[in-house]
Amino acid sequence: MQERFDTGLVRSELDPERPRLIETPWGAMALFVEGDTLHCLQAFCPHLEGPLFQGSVSRGAVTCPWHYWRYELRTGQRVGPLGIPMPGFERLKRCEVEVGAAERIVLRAPIA
Ligand code: FES
Repeated sequence: MQERFDTGLVRSELDPERPRLIETPWGAMALFVEGDTLHCLQAFCPHLEGPLFQGSVSRGAVTCPWHYWRYELRTGQRVGPLGIPMPGFERLKRCEVEVGAAERIVLRAPIA
């Protein structure tokens, strides 16, 4: 499996208000901006494939626009309305994000 992927994007191209859908060697992923931190999570919801990249982001979590399941950006864990983890649900696939020279965004292979 490929270990790294250069997205071709630079940090300043990302909009904190709008997650960015990207195709990667590991499938469709979404980049989220949370303050100075970038998160990369699978782009489609494990519930019924809702578009998480069109979800709303608040308090460190993204809410799926279809049935409002919430996922913590940092871990991909499903959380309740108050941000409390909900064990027993599969975590979202996520990649570590590196911002390299000239703000270039590079992803590492997904964390199992
Ligand atoms: S498809 Fe995301 S909550 Fe149902």
